[in-house]
Amino acid sequence: MTDVLDFIFRRRSIRQYTEQPIAAETMTRLLQAAMAAPSAANGRPWEFVAVTDPHVLAELRQALPGHYNGQGVIVVCCNLGLASSPASERFWQQDLSAATQNILLAAAALGLGSVWTGAHPAAERMAIIRRVLHIPEAVTPLSLIWLGHPAEEKPPRTQYDEARVHWQRYSREGAIIDELA
Ligand SMILES: Cc1cc2nc3c(=O)[nH]c(=O)nc-3n(C[C@H](O)[C@H](O)[C@H](O)COP(=O)(O)O)c2cc1C
Repeated sequence: MTDVLDFIFRRRSIRQYTEQPIAAETMTRLLQAAMAAPSAANGRPWEFVAVTDPHVLAELRQALPGHYNGQGVIVVCCNLGLASSPASERFWQQDLSAATQNILLAAAALGLGSVWTGAHPAAERMAIIRRVLHIPEAVTPLSLIWLGHPAEEKPPRTQYDEARVHWQRYSREGAIIDELA
């Protein structure tokens, strides 16, 4: 069995996809992964717009310049009206980021490519996503994930940097300070 760490290292932003559609069951698996994420006080302030219709995908691609030929999109949205804890008001960005990352890792495990594109707080992007997908003003899109069967390969990696790690207590000594000197 492949270790979960393999998927963490293998997950890379994939921006080129084949024409092969994504099965509905696969999209559902990704959404199950999203909703397995931790959230502050289990508030789960999230909603998801899952897109596989080629017409809607084409409209998104055209409206969001520089966007990709994925065969699926999941938009991770915040709806505080659905939150089951007041903690979500402060922590929703962290909650939705955890859900987003779960989708990316699940996609890697299922052999799909993905790329996280940011929505909130980019007002123009949020407006486009809201307009094309009919998302109401009270619902905030945080991320839009393109998904598909990969047509490019990237090597697994970490970007581990010892100089960014402080053991036991934060220390002002070390490589980062040396760089600034
Ligand atoms: C909050 C956030 C916003 C991002 N927005 C975009 C984006 O708009 N377009 C894009 O192509 N990639 C976007 N990315 C992907 C990053 O460019 C990518 O994760 C980074 O370059 C590291 O590469 P890797 O994902 O292959 O490890 C975003 C990533 C995050 C976490």
